[in-house]
Amino acid sequence: MDDDRLTGAGRPIRSGRDIGRDGGSGSYRPAVRVITFFLLFPLLASCSGVQSALDPAGREARDVASLFFVMLVGGAIIWAGVVGLLFHAARKRRHYSEKGAGRLILWGGAVFPTVILAALLSYAVWLMPNVRPWFSEDVGIRRVEVTGEQFWWRVRYLDDAGAVVFETANEVRVPTGERVVFLLKSPDVIHSFWIPVLGGKMDMIPGRENRLTLQAEKPGIYRGVCAEFCGASHALMAFTVHAMEAEAYEAWVVARRNASGGQDAEGLALFLRHGCAACHAISGTEARGTIGPDLTAFGERGSVGAGALANVQEHVARFIRDPGKVKPEARMPHFSMLEEAEIDRIAAYLKGLR
Ligand code: CUA
Repeated sequence: MDDDRLTGAGRPIRSGRDIGRDGGSGSYRPAVRVITFFLLFPLLASCSGVQSALDPAGREARDVASLFFVMLVGGAIIWAGVVGLLFHAARKRRHYSEKGAGRLILWGGAVFPTVILAALLSYAVWLMPNVRPWFSEDVGIRRVEVTGEQFWWRVRYLDDAGAVVFETANEVRVPTGERVVFLLKSPDVIHSFWIPVLGGKMDMIPGRENRLTLQAEKPGIYRGVCAEFCGASHALMAFTVHAMEAEAYEAWVVARRNASGGQDAEGLALFLRHGCAACHAISGTEARGTIGPDLTAFGERGSVGAGALANVQEHVARFIRDPGKVKPEARMPHFSMLEEAEIDRIAAYLKGLR
């Protein structure tokens, strides 16, 4: 990981007071600061991008985003009402009769929040069936089984009968305009499966199979993450989501089913000789390990180590040499005993798999 980016190295950390003195803005009145903050807030919050719940690309995510904005407006109305009353009480030295004060408390303290909160609650309850559609056994609904591993994602595409058609890792592909049911599992600890642009999150709980239905509407490449602390590399547990037009998706499924171990016989021989196949599988080869991620068509993936590094040959080599340095507590053992040339050769082989 780029540690500099995480810690902001090179920029000394200053106290809030120091930051406030920047740019000679000391003459700003507090009220102006507060107003500026609230005006800038929507700009500061990252409202668009491949991993933003506020930039939905799916049906469920759109409902979640509207719920957020309606709640925001509702909350802002209550906040404005309360602050307005506060200013009113602080500035006007009017004498209220007991009856007038009682009326103010009744309307401002009971009726106003009750009406607003009831409206927000009704809206949220009304949205619920959309956000969590009931799973039906209808044939035709696509099913993808995703298992949270330490610290990566096992992704299995199932047929109508529930049998595994093929397996991949750290990458989910879905056709647009179609509901996909994700069957979520975990063998050991709790993870949480979250694709913010497509919908809400769902926990993956050992001993259970949770179901989450999502429907992508816009083709694109998005990012999914683990949203439940699961260990040392929890923050390095991401995956790529490809939402594809139906035709492109079908073409990918056919290509993926016919994927081979590539043309690089020497690279494959090294991969097999050094025991990589004990944990990893590559379709069309003798490699059929199931402990680690399936590496078929690995070269097409966006990252190495479930979002830990960009997928370039140098990073693949770095991961093979010592996975624990890239992803603390990853289960893959280090292979630093291999010669550098061999590591590079295996990395090149994997990077070339399509
Ligand atoms: Cu898996 Cu956090």
